[in-house]
Amino acid sequence: MSDTEQLKSEALGAIEGADSLDALEGLRVGYLGKQGSISALMKTLGQMSPEEKKVQGPLLNGLRNDVAEAIATRKAKLETAALNAQLASERMDMSLPGPETAKGSVHPVSQVMEELAEIFADMGFAVAEGPEIEDDWRNFTALNIPETHPARAMHDTFYFPDKDDSGRAMLLRTHTSPVQIRTMTSEEPPIRIIAPGRVYRSDSDATHTPMFHQIEGLVIDRDIHLGHLKWTLETFLRAFFERDDVVLRLRPSYFPFTEPSVEVDVGYSIEKGKRVIGGHGDDADGGWMEVLGSGMVNRRVIENCDLDPDVWQGFAFGTGVDRLAMLKYGMDDLRAFFDGDARWLGHYGFDAQDVPTLSAGVGARI
Ligand code: DAH
Repeated sequence: MSDTEQLKSEALGAIEGADSLDALEGLRVGYLGKQGSISALMKTLGQMSPEEKKVQGPLLNGLRNDVAEAIATRKAKLETAALNAQLASERMDMSLPGPETAKGSVHPVSQVMEELAEIFADMGFAVAEGPEIEDDWRNFTALNIPETHPARAMHDTFYFPDKDDSGRAMLLRTHTSPVQIRTMTSEEPPIRIIAPGRVYRSDSDATHTPMFHQIEGLVIDRDIHLGHLKWTLETFLRAFFERDDVVLRLRPSYFPFTEPSVEVDVGYSIEKGKRVIGGHGDDADGGWMEVLGSGMVNRRVIENCDLDPDVWQGFAFGTGVDRLAMLKYGMDDLRAFFDGDARWLGHYGFDAQDVPTLSAGVGARI
């Protein structure tokens, strides 16, 4: 066998045995690269006599072409094998069941707050906010609850040990009413706001938790009277409970920040053995349930906010959001609201895509 044939059979054997693209590339450089053995042989053609060249030229060219072709063929094979291996390892079985998706749900408190915002936005109310850490002037004094007032003791307040820079005692707000003060001292009337949020009292049993939620309403304008209050609350409660037969009963009451003050009851009736809001509370198997505190804003509160009570009047109301949720959606233990129990949320929680709208009904489908 000539040297050329020897080299060729060696090369083709090595190429056939290359088991990776890297190994094959190594062989290509070794034979056909600039310093490669076949390239070196090709260079010897230059020094040959014409006769020798005639014989060796075709032989060496043939060798180079055969080796190059063998490398190309082997390369295509190895690439196909690599692709098949990748496809096999990344295969997805489309017939398998889908992965379990996270089951988030909207908490009833959030749901009810959104329902309230939707109802009051439709009546022209904006949503106002205030901090949960409040000072005692806004939480009490400006609301006509002076230091000696028994209502301060009634609120079971959580105080902070330190006063703020202006010497005011700091506390966790005991109600959303300080947002009334914040709004009246920062905005020009007319004012129409609701203020939902967290409030805190040192109190705990089946119907009281140390943190709970309230919503406050405030309207300040000229010539506002109790009739506006009654219409607003009636419109709100009918929209919220989604019944036109919701009947209100206003009872005289007392709150330091309103004068006169009224407590608002709604009539309920018994349907299929259950209490449902709606109907006249004095009907045969009906009754009244207290849902709101309200009244005409006390002149002193308006004065405390540097507004002239002879020009500006208004009404305010406040109620518990958790309580409204319980009444509408039928839970009976407030503590479960804040246990974070996934089973409870799975049962009472709402679909995040079920956005309350007045057109489709503010109540969520349950
Ligand atoms: N702030 C009162 C409470 O926490 C609720 C309340 C009553 C708010 C009457 C009002 C109101 O705005 O007018 O018990």
